[in-house]
Formats: sequence, C-alpha cells, structure tokens
Amino acid sequence: MSDSPLKNDLLLRTIRGEKTERTPVWLMRQAGRILPEYRAVRAKLSGFVELVKTPERAAEVTIQPVDILDVDAAIIFSDILVIPEAMGLPYEMVESRGPVFPRTVRSASDIDRLKVADISDDLAYTPEAIKLVKKELDGRVPLIGFAGAPWTIFAYMIEGSGSKTFSKARAMLYQQPELADRLLQMITESTIRYLRAQIEAGADVVQIFDSWAGILPPIHFERFSLRYIRQICEAIHQVPITVFAKGAYASISQIGQLDCATVGIDWNTDIRHARSKIGAEKVLQGNLDPAALYADFGEIQQATRQMLDTFGAERHIANLGHGVYPDISPDHVRCFINEVKEYSSKLR
Ligand code: CP3
Repeated sequence: MSDSPLKNDLLLRTIRGEKTERTPVWLMRQAGRILPEYRAVRAKLSGFVELVKTPERAAEVTIQPVDILDVDAAIIFSDILVIPEAMGLPYEMVESRGPVFPRTVRSASDIDRLKVADISDDLAYTPEAIKLVKKELDGRVPLIGFAGAPWTIFAYMIEGSGSKTFSKARAMLYQQPELADRLLQMITESTIRYLRAQIEAGADVVQIFDSWAGILPPIHFERFSLRYIRQICEAIHQVPITVFAKGAYASISQIGQLDCATVGIDWNTDIRHARSKIGAEKVLQGNLDPAALYADFGEIQQATRQMLDTFGAERHIANLGHGVYPDISPDHVRCFINEVKEYSSKLR
C-alpha cells in the first residue's frame, strides 16, 4: 500500500461528512473512449481485454483523466466482467456490440464447472495495476476501486451478452431460484475477495455497480440483489463503499440502510426524494443526465448549477447519473467539471 499523503483529499473528506471548500467531481467511465489518448493506447494492443490485463497500460489510461480532465479521483481501469472470467467463464469485448460470453450458465452442472475466484491466481492484474497507479499518482488524488454487484454479474453470465430484458437471467429467478442463489453466492464471495485485494493494493474507496438493478421488481431486487450487496458491505470495512444501483427507485430507502458511506443516484431519481428516503447521514453521488453534456456550454453550466443547488454544499460528490457517453467531447466534460469546481466553491 502506498502511504504518500493525499494532496487532494476532497473526495475522502466529503465521504467522511466533513465541510469542504468545494464539491469533489469525477465521472463514471472517465477512463475510456471519450479520450483520444485512451483510444491511442488501446489501438496499440489486441483489444480491450488485453488492455485490462496489462497493468502498465491499464495504469496509464487510469491516470489520463486526472491529467487531461483534472478530476478529483481516479477510477481503476478494468471491467466488472473480470469476475466471471476469474470464476471460469471468459468474456470477449466485441466492437460496437459489447461483452459476449462464448459459454454461459444454464444448469447446475455449468455452475459445478465454476469456482470462487482466486485473486492471486486469476485476477492479479487489477491489484497490480492499482499499485502502479498509486505509485504514479503519488497522492495527487484518491483512487477508486470497483466491482459489479452480484446481480449484474449474474445477469451477464446467464444471458451471455447485454440485453434489453435479460429474459434468461430473469427467468432463472422464477424457475430455479436455488440455482440462482448458488451462483449469486459464488459471485459474492469472489467479489469480496476481489475488493479486498484492490484495497490491499491501495484503493482508497470502492464502488459497487448494479447497472441492471432497475429491471428487477422490488421484491426480486431485495431478494436477489440487495441481499448480496449487503453481504459485501458487511464484509468490507477498511475503506468507504459507494453503492450505485441504477434504476432501483422503489428500494431507495433500503439502499440507504446499507452499511455504506455513499449512495450513487441516477438521473431519473429526484434528488430531494433520494435525500429524504436515504436520510441525512449518507453522502450522495451523481446525478447529472449524461445526455446534458451534448448541450452547449451555457446550458451545461446551468444544468450543473441547478444540480449543485439541489444537492447542497455538503455530503455530495458530483458525477453524472451513469457513465459518460463515448461520443461526448472532452471539452464538454471539462465544462461540467470546471463549473462544479467554480460554482460549488461559491455555495459555501
Ligand atoms: O472509467 C471507468 O469508469 C473505469 C473503467 C470501467 C469500464 N467498465 C471500462 C470499459 C468501469 C467502471 C466499467 C464498469 C462496467 N462494465 C459496468 C458498470 C457501469 C455501467 O456503465 O453500467 C458494466 C455494465 C460493464 C460491462 C461493459 N463493459 C459493457 C456493457 C461494455 C460495452 C458497452 C460500452 O460501454 O462500450 C463494456 C466495455 C467497456 N468497459 C469499455 C470501457 C472503457 C469500452 C470498451 C472499449 O474500449 O472498446
């Protein structure tokens, strides 16, 4: 673990509930295709998966948004789908289609062939990249580690690719709930190990992405998703956790009761409603509409100010309500970041 003191610890002070001179800002998916510099690094390798597995290059693209966009945190460059791969179910990243699993899980015997991930054997490249990033950042900003929520990982492992409905995954919850639980439990244990390894390597905060929370009815979200997220939150105490369950509006109070410091909210969520349901203690992260960054500079500034006014000066980490879209110009991203910095310092 790196012990250089952080020069910019705004994010961590905000997470601790301290009063800060301004609101910290970073973007989900900031390390990626919005930056030509990222595309240049990726073009030198065989593709996305190789980039994820090459610690020196993963570290390089992790730091790019800190240098180029001046965000208040780095997020380690990897993917949530490294967990299925380490469990024995490899993925491919197909240009303009997204992730594809050549093999999927349909039956008990498919699960028998999987294992709880052994991080030092099968997933050492991410902690390795984290160590390199920490060294290179030398305390400039904190580093966020991450993993997918078990339900979202499960959805890809059953479905075999992205989907509007994830019908195969959702069918299993009705047809073979015990089988679903068995796999979800293996994913949960793998994820706990993985997050612990990221923290040992130097991650200052970890975020859990439940990107597909919103396709579950509340009763299934609580039964098949939140329950496993709760296990993760209860197992990890070394660093603060952020839980981002996209679309889980009906369960927002229950999310607020998790043992996590920060709750991420998407752009469909009303900020005041989220605050009233989640309570005053938790830090909220979000939630500008990612499409707002298509607007001109004046409108981006206005939308950003409105968001900052509604969240208020404390216990807020500025971000988008989901990952930045790959065709947004870096100038528009910078406009958002600069406006958060300038306007939020005036709010104090
Ligand atoms: O900057 C960062 O946020 C760190 C890197 C990061 C990536 N994926 C890199 C990536 C993070 C945090 C993720 C998380 C992730 N991956 C999620 C959860 C967050 C979310 O957006 O909902 C999900 C669902 C995935 C799975 C995944 N990976 C999909 C569906 C896709 C294809 C769609 C797309 O965005 O292209 C990916 C590919 C991916 N992951 C890319 C990047 C930079 C693009 C691949 C490329 O470079 O060609």
